[in-house]
Amino acid sequence: MEIRRAGIVGGGLMGSGIAEVCARHGLRVRLVEASPELAGAARGRVERSMARALERGKMSEAERDAALASIEWSTDVADLGDADLVIEAIPERLDLKRDLFARIDAVAPESAVLATNTSSIPVIDIARATRHPERVLGTHFFNPAPVMRLLELVRTVLTSDATLETAREFGERIGKRVIVAQDRAGFIVNLLLAPYLNGAVRLYEAGLASREDIDAGMRLGCNHPMGPLELLDHIGLDTHMAVCAALHEEYANPDHAAPPLLRRMVAAGLLGRKSGRGFYDYRESRGS
Ligand code: NAI
Repeated sequence: MEIRRAGIVGGGLMGSGIAEVCARHGLRVRLVEASPELAGAARGRVERSMARALERGKMSEAERDAALASIEWSTDVADLGDADLVIEAIPERLDLKRDLFARIDAVAPESAVLATNTSSIPVIDIARATRHPERVLGTHFFNPAPVMRLLELVRTVLTSDATLETAREFGERIGKRVIVAQDRAGFIVNLLLAPYLNGAVRLYEAGLASREDIDAGMRLGCNHPMGPLELLDHIGLDTHMAVCAALHEEYANPDHAAPPLLRRMVAAGLLGRKSGRGFYDYRESRGS
């Protein structure tokens, strides 16, 4: 089934980016937020992001206008009655997501695919809140969604082949490289990334090297665009810690357990770029 109309629920960091990338690839989008003020904030995020794309020559003014015009802003899930695909991007809480999926299930067409952008909740736990879990899967986008080329699809033990294929075609249509993972904590990318990042924190905590040398080692020695501590500051230390918790619960592997320094930094509010300070200081010049 071809996806023409996408409903996005939650227009925060991820939802606004997903709405933008869908609109820029010719889909009709309806974005549902929790209140008119929050819908306005989501619209502001999309407009600012498109303004940056315009500045960088990634889109023309006419494309920007067409993309913005194809997004409708709503505060009512009942408006998703004509969606071919609904993507949920509300906060990472199972109770909220289950409640929302039950409501989406009641209004979306029988043929619609229902997707969650969760990064750490088992997709099957969300799917079971609907009457047709075979039409539910995970669409795990990366931040910023309009820029990052990867889309991880997550199939549960109940996801149908047709649902997966529809989602794959959708992902390719919006310009993503689609990869498919089973419904296990961490999917592919976080499962590989988390022990690596934890290893870097442990190395730094043990005093084996300076943060600059750890980062330079991986940037210059492995050609990574960012070293692991820089990458942690970019992801957000709290976000990484939540991923570690989900992985550790799933696999009970000590490599996934958040190192003590990471826990203390999160407790101290040193969350990385978003809080102004993490392994590096972003408040004035870097590297204080
Ligand atoms: P966020 O907090 O920036 O955005 C969540 C939005 O959902 C808020 O704007 C909020 O007003 C809205 N919302 C809450 N309840 C709602 C409801 N009932 N109806 C409509 N809107 C509602 O969160 P973020 O970072 O965008 O994360 C969303 C999801 O994406 C989470 O499941 C997260 O784990 C996942 N994710 C996050 C990534 C990241 O880098 N932040 C990366 C990949 C996945």
